[in-house]
Amino acid sequence: MNVPDIIIAIDGFSATGKSTLAKLIAKEFDFVYLDSGALYRGVTLLAQEAGLIDEGNNIDLPALRSLLDSGVDFHFTLSPDGNLLFTGERCIEKEIRSLKVSSQVSPIAAVPFVRAFVDNLLHEFGRRGRVVMDGRDIGTAVFPDAQVKLFVTASPEVRAQRRFDEMVAKGENPTMEEVRKNLEERDYIDSHRETNPLRRADDAFVMDNSDMTLHEEIVWTRGFLMGRFGILE
Ligand code: CDP
Repeated sequence: MNVPDIIIAIDGFSATGKSTLAKLIAKEFDFVYLDSGALYRGVTLLAQEAGLIDEGNNIDLPALRSLLDSGVDFHFTLSPDGNLLFTGERCIEKEIRSLKVSSQVSPIAAVPFVRAFVDNLLHEFGRRGRVVMDGRDIGTAVFPDAQVKLFVTASPEVRAQRRFDEMVAKGENPTMEEVRKNLEERDYIDSHRETNPLRRADDAFVMDNSDMTLHEEIVWTRGFLMGRFGILE
C-alpha cells in the first residue's frame, strides 16, 4: 500500500502499546520508527549515573544542563530486535528500560530544557519525513502538523499486565504492584506538568487497544490510512 511520505504521531499514556503499534506501522508501510521516550529515558540514565537526581527526585538542574550542553551523543541503531539507543559507542537499551529509570524519568522529562534538548533531536530525526514517532506530546507540540495523529489508550489492568510481562521477559523481577504504581505516577506527572503535558490533540484519532490483537491493530491502521489518503486497493 502506497502511503505518502508523512509523519505519523502516536501519543498516549504509559504502556498502552504505542511503541508496538509504531513498530508494526514502520514495518508494514516502510517508515522509520522513532521512540521519543527512549531519549527521555537516556537523559534520566545519564543523570542517575552522574548522581544528579536523588531518591526524593531532587534534580541538580545546573549540573544536568551542563551535562546536556557538553554534547551528549544519542543515536539509534537498527537491529533485528528494533531500534537500540546508543550514547557514543555504548548501547544503553537495556538500562533505560529498567524500573530504576522508569521511576525517575517523568520528573526529568518535566524539565523544560530537557524537553528542548529532546525536541531538537526529534526535529533533526524527523526532517526526512516518512517517520512514525511515539511519545506524549508528538501530535500536540513536537509535530503539531503531523498528517496522521493517533492517541492510544488501554485499560489500566491491561497496561500493567503488558508492562509486567514485558519486563519479566527481559529478565527483570518486578512485582505487579511496583509496575502498577510506576504507571500511575508517570501518568499523573506526565499529564500535569507545565511544559507540553500529555493530552490528546484535538485532531487525534483514539484507538483503545485493550481488547485488540496486534493483527487487528494493523488492520485498523491500514483501513484508517486508506480512508485518510483515499487509497483504494
Ligand atoms: O514505554 P512507556 O509508555 O513506559 O514510556 P516511554 O514512551 O518510554 O516514555 C518514558 C517517559 O518519558 C514518559 O513517562 C514521559 O515522562 C516521558 N516522555 C515525554 O515526556 N514525552 C514524550 N514525547 C515521550 C516520553
